[in-house]
Amino acid sequence: MSNWEIAVRAASRAEPGMVIGLGTGRAAAGFVRELGERVRNGLAVRGIPTSRATESLASSLGIPLIGFEEAAAVDLAVDGADEVDPDLNLIKGHGGALVRERVVAAAASRFVVLVGPEKLSHRLGAQRSVPVEAIPFAAPQVRRALERMGAVAEIRIESDGNPFVTDNRNLLVNASFGEIADPAALHREIRDIPGVLDSGLFAGMADEVLVEGQALSPTAAAAS
Ligand code: A5P
Repeated sequence: MSNWEIAVRAASRAEPGMVIGLGTGRAAAGFVRELGERVRNGLAVRGIPTSRATESLASSLGIPLIGFEEAAAVDLAVDGADEVDPDLNLIKGHGGALVRERVVAAAASRFVVLVGPEKLSHRLGAQRSVPVEAIPFAAPQVRRALERMGAVAEIRIESDGNPFVTDNRNLLVNASFGEIADPAALHREIRDIPGVLDSGLFAGMADEVLVEGQALSPTAAAAS
């Protein structure tokens, strides 16, 4: 399946009346565009965006948007990922939206992830660092704590030399651990660092990963 085809496949899961979590990044934007087309053709759904960028894209496409004041649960969440292991554990957040992405994915009955084959990895951390969102006051301490845990860690800096600031007005610390043996345990350890809001390790959250060129289910992925 091409990038367009996986977006179409994910959008075909959307049914009238659903509350849909709208992810952030290139793959998620493909899904939002496809959903927008369906809304234009009469599909009645409401979206909860995971970033200001997605909010702006979805609004421009006429997708009705709501917050958690108006819906306690999400029927379907669709998002991209930065790295995926055979058990469908994910590294997310290199687009800077990991906190809202987790809130939406955690509320979802079904969490579908769209990636290219280059994101598939035999073990998380083999390819990408783990983004960690920290309140600005604590970020230097968070970076040091991550280094004490064995990572090479740096605060994400933009091309203009200023720190990258998330939609929640926090900073990101990118932590390279190398191959991660237990993503769920590492996530808990990172979350315990004072000043950390969240990590980009999403363990055991994805129900389905649609890959450009192939389709994975948790069972098929574990068996491969
Ligand atoms: C956003 O914070 C991320 O979690 C994205 O979902 C992830 O970086 C994948 O983005 P792309 O689809 O643009 O590669």
